[in-house]
Amino acid sequence: MTAALVELQEVKKIYWLGEVEVPALQGVDLRVESSDFLALMGPSGSGKSTLLHILGLLDRPTAGKVLWEGLDVTRLNGGKLAELRGRRIGFVFQMFNLVPNLTALENVELPLVFLGVPARERRNRAEEALRRLGLGDRLRHRPNQLSGGQQQRVALARALVTDPALLIADEPTGNLDSTTGREILVLFFELNKQGRTIVLATHDPEAAEVARVRLRLRDGRITERL
Ligand SMILES: Nc1ncnc2c1ncn2[C@@H]1O[C@H](COP(=O)(O)OP(=O)(O)OP(=O)(O)O)[C@@H](O)[C@H]1O
Ligand SMILES: [Mg+2]
Repeated sequence: MTAALVELQEVKKIYWLGEVEVPALQGVDLRVESSDFLALMGPSGSGKSTLLHILGLLDRPTAGKVLWEGLDVTRLNGGKLAELRGRRIGFVFQMFNLVPNLTALENVELPLVFLGVPARERRNRAEEALRRLGLGDRLRHRPNQLSGGQQQRVALARALVTDPALLIADEPTGNLDSTTGREILVLFFELNKQGRTIVLATHDPEAAEVARVRLRLRDGRITERL
């Protein structure tokens, strides 16, 4: 069997609150193949965000393995992990997480700054990413001068500007009204149709419908695959 883009084997995650153990993931096996579009569903506290953090190499499991293209990344040091994450993974969050005092263009340039891309190329690629998402006339706007849907599109441009192998989205429509949320979901649908690999978490059954496969989590376990 060829290696998956990312594979989780028997992944467990325990958070510690002082002396108290909080089991967030209790043994998750999951393969994410190139061009997949998975939606994680399940009640609040079921482990969706924790799972996305581990898939996205933002956090390490307490037990089990994370294989990235077959490489066991649980053994990589923090710097190597950050480099892999920066080059190969894009993130979109519920709260947009844009830097408030930077323009849309500067926000989208940021991941390229960290990768050491020269200024002119950075600017061109960020402009192109924003134009593709219909924000060519909003380059110099700051986040507070943009609507929620526009801010989420800036966040999406920032996630895509590095051309990541994996796009991770945690409740990307959670802060948007239903019409604007639907517009963002259409963008995800089209990105996947063009071959982008996506894993998103959502409470919203309608949002989960855009994915090809839905996984239901309960108490830190995958209980259903639809
Ligand atoms: N940093 C943390 N420290 C301690 N416990 C945590 C931490 N992060 C999450 N948890 C706990 O881990 C469990 C899973 O949380 P997680 O955020 O993954 O759930 P979720 O499915 O994303 O929920 P929601 O739908 O509300 O976003 C919960 O019981 C939560 O309280
Ligand atoms: Mg969550």
